[in-house]
Amino acid sequence: MAAPPPPPTYVDANRTWVDSRVRHLVGLHLEGPALARLGARGAVCVEVGTGRRGLGTRVAVERFGARRVTAVDVHPASVDAARRRTRDLASLPGVQVDVGVADAAALPLPDGSADLLVSFHLLHHADDWRAVLAEAARVVRPGGRLALTEMTSRFVDAPWLRAVSRHPADRFSSEELLAAVRAAGFETAPERTRRWFGDRVVQAVAVRAGA
Ligand SMILES: C[S@@+](CC[C@H](N)C(=O)[O-])C[C@H]1O[C@@H](n2cnc3c(N)ncnc32)[C@H](O)[C@@H]1O
Repeated sequence: MAAPPPPPTYVDANRTWVDSRVRHLVGLHLEGPALARLGARGAVCVEVGTGRRGLGTRVAVERFGARRVTAVDVHPASVDAARRRTRDLASLPGVQVDVGVADAAALPLPDGSADLLVSFHLLHHADDWRAVLAEAARVVRPGGRLALTEMTSRFVDAPWLRAVSRHPADRFSSEELLAAVRAAGFETAPERTRRWFGDRVVQAVAVRAGA
């Protein structure tokens, strides 16, 4: 049976917040540096759910030492916008940035081809977030890293947020997310994990097992 349609929302939070310059600055100057302190780094990087501003790609180049970034989003309009907004990065010496349409759960990349996979607030939107983690484990080489910033169900399920933003129903606590990261084949550690705002936002850098 088909899933019921999502409940109506009063405003579109993706337009008013996610695509905004303020959200971009929060990512660049707070979330990105915090992930760098937790150990995010890698020359060959994949960013999933790049959005209209190419946030994680910019953070990867400017903070994580990325030199080759493949950034994807499912929405073609977001991909076009992100491609325009990351053009300056692609013109830096030694830096290559490719932005394209792809599903984070089915990346057009070979096994073990990335040093780092970056995801800023994609998992709480993805239809099958565990499949995205499995795909991250396929694409990241052993010893490579997964850098996540995510809203937990404490945030996603707040009635005020449900009223203004569409998110799938079955989201995760920070513990459920970290357990799923480990089940996918990554190692987590308390010193590479940070919880914010009463466990409403979690950041983690996990290492692909098997090095
Ligand atoms: C909340 S926005 C985050 C945008 C940006 N990363 C940020 O933090 O500002 C989530 C993004 O993930 C994208 N997205 C959702 N599901 C996806 C999937 N399965 N594969 C790729 N992108 C996806 C959406 O189109 C959207 O751009």
